[in-house]
Amino acid sequence: MNASFSPSRSKLHASVVGPVATLSIDNPAKHNALDLGMWQALPGLIAELERDERVRAIILRGGGKGSFASGADIAEFETVRADAEGGRRYEAVNEAAFWAVAHCAKPVIAMIRRYCLGGGFGLALSCDLRIASENASFGVPAARLGIGYPPGAVRLVTAAVGAPAAKDLFYTARRVGAEEAQRLGIVQRIVPDGALEETALALAHDIAANAPLTIRAAKAAIDAAVGLAHPGTDPVGLADRCFDSADAVEGRKAFLEKRRPVFTGR
Ligand code: COA
Repeated sequence: MNASFSPSRSKLHASVVGPVATLSIDNPAKHNALDLGMWQALPGLIAELERDERVRAIILRGGGKGSFASGADIAEFETVRADAEGGRRYEAVNEAAFWAVAHCAKPVIAMIRRYCLGGGFGLALSCDLRIASENASFGVPAARLGIGYPPGAVRLVTAAVGAPAAKDLFYTARRVGAEEAQRLGIVQRIVPDGALEETALALAHDIAANAPLTIRAAKAAIDAAVGLAHPGTDPVGLADRCFDSADAVEGRKAFLEKRRPVFTGR
């Protein structure tokens, strides 16, 4: 039987401090697994942060000191992912969440400790950058569950690690630690667990201080280069917009005046 779908924000929490928004996945009893309602609620939350003019960078994380996310909530598969039809509907919701993050006009950083598995791994790869604790563990257990992984999410994994490493991860369903994940290009920084929040925040603030239009244009161009083009977005037009912006004037001026630029995103 496939149950009806309805978004639920009760286990997703967003907060904004200065220019950095933090979006937490809070389902601690299940290592922060995401149920269908959570997948469904994610695009709306991302859209709100995208519209919020205060926000220049977003950190996506697991709540508390828990895992980033142990993937989709397997307990509800029997009702919501029980057959091909349910699987398709589920995957459409799942992929919409991935693409909402991947195509967000603002940079999104995944802050990862402990488990980052299955749909959690897809979600982390939807982010622009991944910063991980030394205890982080990554993997795609789909082949151990006998389920299909959404093709769009497979594209995200392949874009990040290349086809041979993607096949290794999918076929073996093995878990890789933080160091191997860094070698594979999944993770950009590894830090001791106690320094994770502080380092992720510092990275988000560094990015938030840079020119938003430049970052927007770079994101669209880089994603297009690896087959993850943003629909309806023209990377050339976005780069043109940078040259015509007040921020480009400010960047030049600040350089000549030997001071830090103050960018407005206009
Ligand atoms: N969906 C639903 N429940 C999950 C879950 C998931 N993805 N991941 C963990 N849980 C639940 C467990 O069933 C357990 O519930 P219980 O306390 O009612 O028994 C609880 O979270 C704690 O997990 P447990 O397995 O006891 O912890 P662990 O430290 O031994 O192992 C994991 C942690 C994440 C390695 C293991 O739970 C696991 O393999 N989870 C499934 C991961 C997966 O296949 N994800 C892809 C889904 S498509």
